[in-house]
Amino acid sequence: MLHRTFPLLRIGPVRRMLFTALLVALPGWAAAAEVIVFGGTGKLGAQVVRALDAAGHDVTVFRRDASDVSRLKGLKYREAIGDATRSADVQAAFAARRYDVVVDALAKGRNQPATFYIDTQRAIIAAAQATGVKQVILHGSVGVGDSRSIYPESRWPSMQDVLEAKGVAERELIASGIPYTIIRNAVLRDDPPGVQEQAALTTDQTRFGGVTRGGLGRLTAECTLAQACLGQIFHAVDPQVTWGAR
Ligand SMILES: NC(=O)c1ccc[n+]([C@@H]2O[C@H](COP(=O)([O-])OP(=O)(O)OC[C@H]3O[C@@H](n4cnc5c(N)ncnc54)[C@H](OP(=O)(O)O)[C@@H]3O)[C@@H](O)[C@H]2O)c1
Repeated sequence: MLHRTFPLLRIGPVRRMLFTALLVALPGWAAAAEVIVFGGTGKLGAQVVRALDAAGHDVTVFRRDASDVSRLKGLKYREAIGDATRSADVQAAFAARRYDVVVDALAKGRNQPATFYIDTQRAIIAAAQATGVKQVILHGSVGVGDSRSIYPESRWPSMQDVLEAKGVAERELIASGIPYTIIRNAVLRDDPPGVQEQAALTTDQTRFGGVTRGGLGRLTAECTLAQACLGQIFHAVDPQVTWGAR
């Protein structure tokens, strides 16, 4: 099987910043996008919002009324209030503003059923289809689809419901016809202070490894309306992140 890595996503931080600034500065080539982030108050979602904000995009965070917004302190973003499991709330958010891109970084709470991932993705797909969204970026998990074969058997019983539900969500997004980017990760870690992340995307669905939330945030911003990311299922891996490390 042919696997691709993405050179733009592997350049150093300074050149990457210059490149991103150039893309945002060039009118008509890569203009700032209107992006709505589901799960934007979460550990991964807040890093996505940070990276989108830094890249000059207009960001809306879809959040529950009672969400803790402390991770978003100092960032520029709008808000859409609602519950992602209620399709009427999701529809209302898309009726209030036009979005180019949707990022789904939702994770279910302890007491929510695994079908959370199906219900929320269905609500997002319906609203995105109705309003001409140009890209849905779905944060998924290794263990879904072709990557089931590399998922550790010891973890499967406790994760089966979630991974199967995430599989349904992925398949429904792909079948929807909306341009999509699926970014799976196997192990998510917070960024250790003083360590420059080296996260990269690969289409090799046998790659199992860890990635930091900061790295995943950056990769999400780099994939926003990027032609090379459309219609792709990626695994995100940072070779520095080891399995057991917290
Ligand atoms: N942790 C790992 O090692 C790991 C590994 C593989 C994949 N992942 C995946 O990575 C993704 C993000 O993980 P994370 O660690 O960032 O999760 P997290 O910190 O728990 O964030 C979850 C987000 O989802 C939001 N949310 C939950 N229920 C909602 C609802 N009904 N309506 C609106 N928003 C709702 C939360 O909002 P509130 O602020 O209101 O709670 C929060 O913003 C998930 O898809 C997860 O499955 C994680």
